[in-house]
Amino acid sequence: MSYASSDHWNRFFAKFKNAGTDLDWGTQWTKVHLPVLKSTNIQTVLDLGCGTGNDVLRLAKEGFAVTGMDFSHEAVQLGRLKAQKLGLSVQFCVADMARNLPFSCAAFDAVMSNVALHMFSDKITRELFKEIRRIVRPEGVFVFHVNSTEDAKLRAERRPIIRVLEPNYILEHDGQTMHFFSKDYLLDLLSDWKDVELKHYEILHQETGKPFKYVWWGKAVQPD
Ligand SMILES: C[S@@+](CC[C@H](N)C(=O)[O-])C[C@H]1O[C@@H](n2cnc3c(N)ncnc32)[C@H](O)[C@@H]1O
Repeated sequence: MSYASSDHWNRFFAKFKNAGTDLDWGTQWTKVHLPVLKSTNIQTVLDLGCGTGNDVLRLAKEGFAVTGMDFSHEAVQLGRLKAQKLGLSVQFCVADMARNLPFSCAAFDAVMSNVALHMFSDKITRELFKEIRRIVRPEGVFVFHVNSTEDAKLRAERRPIIRVLEPNYILEHDGQTMHFFSKDYLLDLLSDWKDVELKHYEILHQETGKPFKYVWWGKAVQPD
């Protein structure tokens, strides 16, 4: 397999669970998406690579009908428990986004994905972006965050690289794979969409205030 497996991610989430913590970026990702989702007549949203479902629950609290998809059953189990405790009606689905997405054409008004689409080779990434386009309805939106090529050096200081698998696609010491996106690459991946907007930004470390991560925020609209 050319990308980190569900076993890798199950171990990743089990560590959080055993430590009594969670992978949660707070409103870091959704605060940028919300104005777009609220201004474009969106009701149904798929969170692709939803992890333990924190953004699924945030959007559900805003009134959206949200489905979270992830291939880590550890993560999805936690998401389901949190939704139950909060009494929020959301859907979760365990599936691998590197294969065909298990949804019908135009099934969602919007697809959101936060730091989860950047785990794959060029070939899989291109197929995945096509699949996302297939499941968003006409005039629906796609909003996302992915690591940028600027992030590669910073990330390597924390997470040693074992091998370069493809240009901008690496294998890290613990088995995680990471694809860093340039603006040109994103524009190419989104060339069939309309009203594409991309913003590059820096996220600072909460404690040290030093640069921690560089990401692209993106928005694209499905043509009629
Ligand atoms: C960095 S985490 C981000 C999780 C969540 N979006 C968040 O912001 O907290 C990446 C997520 O992508 C999921 N993921 C990685 N590869 C996947 C795949 N092939 N299919 C489905 N989910 C995948 C992982 O299980 C993990 O939950």
